[in-house]
Amino acid sequence: MTIFHGTFVDVPENPFDGGRLRTAQALLVGEGAIVERGALADLRSSSPDEPVVDLTAGLVLPGFVDAHVHFPQLRIIGTLGLPLLDWLEHSALPEEARLADIDYARGVARDFVTGLLRAGTTTALVFGAHYAAAVDALFAEAGPRGLRITAGLVVSDRLLRDDLLTTPERAYDQGLELAQRWHGSGRLRYAVTPRFSLSCSDSLLESCAALHQHVDGSWLTSHLNEDRAEVAAVEKLFPGCDSYLDTYAQHQLVGARSVFAHNVHPRSTELAELGRSGASVAHCPTSNSALGSGLFPLREHVANGVRVALGSDVGGGTGLSLLKEGLQAYFMQQLLGEAGIPLTSAHLLHLATASGAAALGLTGQVGEFSVGSQFDALWVRPVEGSALDCGLRNVDSAEAALAKVFALGTDADVAAVWIGGQRAANR
Ligand code: GUN
Ligand code: ZN
Repeated sequence: MTIFHGTFVDVPENPFDGGRLRTAQALLVGEGAIVERGALADLRSSSPDEPVVDLTAGLVLPGFVDAHVHFPQLRIIGTLGLPLLDWLEHSALPEEARLADIDYARGVARDFVTGLLRAGTTTALVFGAHYAAAVDALFAEAGPRGLRITAGLVVSDRLLRDDLLTTPERAYDQGLELAQRWHGSGRLRYAVTPRFSLSCSDSLLESCAALHQHVDGSWLTSHLNEDRAEVAAVEKLFPGCDSYLDTYAQHQLVGARSVFAHNVHPRSTELAELGRSGASVAHCPTSNSALGSGLFPLREHVANGVRVALGSDVGGGTGLSLLKEGLQAYFMQQLLGEAGIPLTSAHLLHLATASGAAALGLTGQVGEFSVGSQFDALWVRPVEGSALDCGLRNVDSAEAALAKVFALGTDADVAAVWIGGQRAANR
């Protein structure tokens, strides 16, 4: 066993419902999990023979949970100036088509997994590729490096470029084959992934539902109400549905193991249905800003009891760091004025950790430093002489220190990462 000594900060309980930031000076970790937490002197006296790892500079946070990120889009981060549908056509989809080349896909998978670890992300719900071999490449890269990845084959059967389309039968067969190979292998799980109902016929959504039902414990992820032009196009394509969410609900795709990205423009009936069903929404603030999708109605989600987590939405989003996403979430709520929720650093940390864990059914296992939780962590030790370094020398509370980390922290400040108690290579 090992004693880790530092400033461990987490927010295990929902701060939108009274949860507060908590700190611990030391954690005793054995077999990958937290065995005890408390003062260093107490842990030392109860475990006098265990080595002590010094992490006292900066803060230690639970490993980040990215609830929505596209692995094939890593190399096109930063295409600015286009709204969603134009950005898909001119930037994202041409790049996704390049993953038909398996060598290219392997290179992207390697860069993507490295990028997650550099950002301090230890768990992620990942939009895979439209090609089964490229999804294999992602799982094959993430597995040995210890990441907790839930991902799957992205499927569409209309409106996208031809080389990204499949059929309901092929989507089912290839998805099942991938799930049989990877679902439950170590920390990997399968997510059934219709791209969005704009590019999915009813028959394809039906085949997704069949696969989701067949693969026990699989996840379901897609996009929802991201952009006004997209919402209008979906409503036109599904005249028999009451709403965008209804296009999924009519196929039993809305439940506690569903995560929908964005939901910037929901109807009140959709919010109520999301709350009732226990489905989660991945809020992706830098993407919503870069694509001009809109200001996320967080207050309405919270009022309806909808679970909200944080997603980087790379490559619509502008990087893999959930520190940046947290800060942008804060900005956007500020810009909403009275309609927004003034977020504290505790809210931001909860959104980047425990709420992502909840969206992925991993509450208690990751996203917090409780006894019994896995030791998934990132050590924020600021680059010497940086503004964050200076800032952290001038704070008088953990809340203030954490606010500075969200305001100023970058990948360069993530000095080390652990997953299940094992140090992961993040450099
Ligand atoms: N909707 C359908 N596909 C995508 C995508 O790749 N990114 C975003 N942001 N929205 C989408
Ligand atoms: Zn997305």
